[in-house]
Amino acid sequence: MSKDGLRPLAGQKAIVTGGSSGIGAAVAAVFAAAGAAVGINYHSNGAAAEQIVEDIGAKGGEALALKADVAREDQVADMFSRFTDRFGQLDILVANSGIQLDAPTVAMTLDQWQRVLDVNLTGQFLCAREAARLFKMQEGRDRDSRAASKIICMSSVHEVIPWAGHLNYAAAKGGIMMMMKTLAQELAPNGTRVNGIAPGAIRTAINRDAWETPEAEKKLLELIPYGRVGEPEDVARAAVWLASDASDYVVGTTLYVDGGMTLYPAFRENG
Ligand code: BGC
Repeated sequence: MSKDGLRPLAGQKAIVTGGSSGIGAAVAAVFAAAGAAVGINYHSNGAAAEQIVEDIGAKGGEALALKADVAREDQVADMFSRFTDRFGQLDILVANSGIQLDAPTVAMTLDQWQRVLDVNLTGQFLCAREAARLFKMQEGRDRDSRAASKIICMSSVHEVIPWAGHLNYAAAKGGIMMMMKTLAQELAPNGTRVNGIAPGAIRTAINRDAWETPEAEKKLLELIPYGRVGEPEDVARAAVWLASDASDYVVGTTLYVDGGMTLYPAFRENG
């Protein structure tokens, strides 16, 4: 099995939640190109997930579409067993599913608050717990990587940048940061590396309003020192690195993939 620079994830089996669109879809495709077999979790867009499975298959890779609402305990457990029925083991979890339901705080409904916390934070907990249980059962097996297993928590620059009008989302992402670090501390002795990725403004459906028109994009670029909106593949390549042996000593860290958004560019000519 080749574990060379071109296929650093050869032989490994990965679940990517929220894998049917945006950053998750790019992670699934780039993981497959790196040699991993990929479970592509989706909530509602089965056709998109199946298309990605087909595309990966056409390139000689292996993938499986997995319907589940990550906020539902029973559905998460069922998804992991469908994955292991097919692939026999799990090496990598990319907990990526995320939504935005934006509103000024005075107008935010409890449902909007709760659903975002349920999907973005509880969903990562449920998937990470299921993965950690599996990793424990797999202890001592032969493996294709230095770490016994890996978890990548998809966060956001809003784990550290406050975001008016997005209280539920920022609270969930702040929670992901501390959940990721606590998990990393707890699971590292068993050989599991847990890390996070904090994307900035990446061109996907979730923030279409922020980049769709030239005016909106110009305004958005004021927040990005590097001068371009990110692409899903920018994040996917970082995820491959964090999942591969190239990052073997990286444990409990958030990797910011944000074109410098967290550098507070408003301070360039001020302060
Ligand atoms: C949000 C996007 C936003 C970006 C930068 C992401 O986490 O989902 O809507 O454009 O952060 O603010």
